[in-house]
Amino acid sequence: MENSDIKHIAIIMDGNRRWAKQHNLETKLGHKKGAEVLEDVAKYCNKIGLNYLTVYAFSTENWKRTESEVGAIMLLLKMYLDKFLKTADLENIKLRVLGDIDALQNDIREKIIKMEERTKNNTGLTLNIAFNYGGRAELVRATRNIAKDVKEGKINIQEICEQTISDNLYTVGEDDPDLLIRTSGELRTSNFLPWQLTFSEFLFLDKNWPDFTTDDIDKAIMDYNSRHRRVGK
Ligand code: FPP
Repeated sequence: MENSDIKHIAIIMDGNRRWAKQHNLETKLGHKKGAEVLEDVAKYCNKIGLNYLTVYAFSTENWKRTESEVGAIMLLLKMYLDKFLKTADLENIKLRVLGDIDALQNDIREKIIKMEERTKNNTGLTLNIAFNYGGRAELVRATRNIAKDVKEGKINIQEICEQTISDNLYTVGEDDPDLLIRTSGELRTSNFLPWQLTFSEFLFLDKNWPDFTTDDIDKAIMDYNSRHRRVGK
């Protein structure tokens, strides 16, 4: 990777079902391939020294999909977490889940808590998996937390500032994304990180997520760097 000040990439991993259809495969195999690609991309981002990778794996809207598809994504998350618990220290990756984990099955929630605790002191890439995540819901949650702090006398209304909001989001303590990538040709942000993406560069790619490779990360960073050089002039 060429020199870059990029620290944080966010990705909307879109197009798994279309990829499965193109290959005459069941939908769940598209998600399975998507999870494999995510693993490769996360390892690569760690290797090149990126600080944060934030991916959208399951939105609050995704519950509307069929029971079998939701079940397949839950199973993939479970498998990912199990695998991750074994390799996280080796990779030095810190894993965080952004979203309402209270609504998930007990065993998944417990695995998430265990894995976050186990990897919290790792110093490599922070991999944020947005799961049961909705950006507006995140802002509602932050507002409730802040209102509670006001009610309990912990802060005054006049003290509430932008940092107060950032401090009450799932991404507390992290730098905002420099770049958002969305695959599969859709040109929307779909309730993903509305507060955090305010100043980010956007890159929309036509390929589906299962066709994404680590070369696409290199190209995206080169694209980001060329835009930033222009902005700096
Ligand atoms: C979007 O494609 C993808 C999702 C809603 C699920 C993303 C999930 C993964 C990449 C695998 C799961 C990984 C973990 C770690 C749980 P789509 O299904 O909306 O495809 P379409 O746009 O072609 O319909």
